Amino acid sequence: MKRGSAEKYTAFAPFYDLLSAEHPVYGAGRRRLIESLAVRAGDQALDLGCGTGLNFALLQRRAGPGGVIVGIDRSAQMLAQARKRADRHGWDNVILIRADATTLVPAEISEQITDAGGRALSRVGLATYALSLMDPWERAWEKLWQLTSPDAQLGVLDMQRPTGLSAPLSPLARFACRLGGADIEAHPWTGLERDCAHVRADSARGGHLQVRVGVKPRKT
Ligand SMILES: C[S@@+](CC[C@H](N)C(=O)[O-])C[C@H]1O[C@@H](n2cnc3c(N)ncnc32)[C@H](O)[C@@H]1O
Repeated sequence: MKRGSAEKYTAFAPFYDLLSAEHPVYGAGRRRLIESLAVRAGDQALDLGCGTGLNFALLQRRAGPGGVIVGIDRSAQMLAQARKRADRHGWDNVILIRADATTLVPAEISEQITDAGGRALSRVGLATYALSLMDPWERAWEKLWQLTSPDAQLGVLDMQRPTGLSAPLSPLARFACRLGGADIEAHPWTGLERDCAHVRADSARGGHLQVRVGVKPRKT
């Protein structure tokens, strides 16, 4: 994670949902990503860098009470907000794990999210507005890969500079990313484009929000 952003998410965790421009800007990408992921009833979905759990309601709607949502984040304060959200909604199928996504050792945390044979159970893996804060994001992407099952549905939602007619909004987008500790030039969806099959791309808010969904090839 970039220097200073860990502290940011410690201090601002209780205000994250209020300050994150979810309704005017970022919620649009979240909805597009999760609508594109083929989440089925009963699925286990792993949300890397889950923060306060803003993805959980959309995932719950698809995975249902028989599904499981696994949220991983390095900030105890963000996870505390995620736990409050789960409790408020009565979701008892949410597992929260505190870990640094760039250094975690899958075998050490996988007991909760693997079967008896040690095989990863998450059939869905996603990272929303998270990989671009992780340094290096490539390592976190590798972990998402290792923590999901063969043929998992993977999704990345992250930010870049707006394009086309929205290009003049670039300074604002860069400012928002800098405030949140994200590297607007990271383009972490390129990992998914490189490694997944059946990649689908979408974007929102003048190209600022980039959505990629793909399928992990079974042979790996
Ligand atoms: C901008 S927030 C996004 C949260 C959530 N995914 C969302 O869509 O609202 C980024 C989150 O990534 C987490 N994070 C940043 N670097 C991390 C790392 N190396 N390992 C795990 N979590 C990390 C932060 O603690 C924070 O909760």
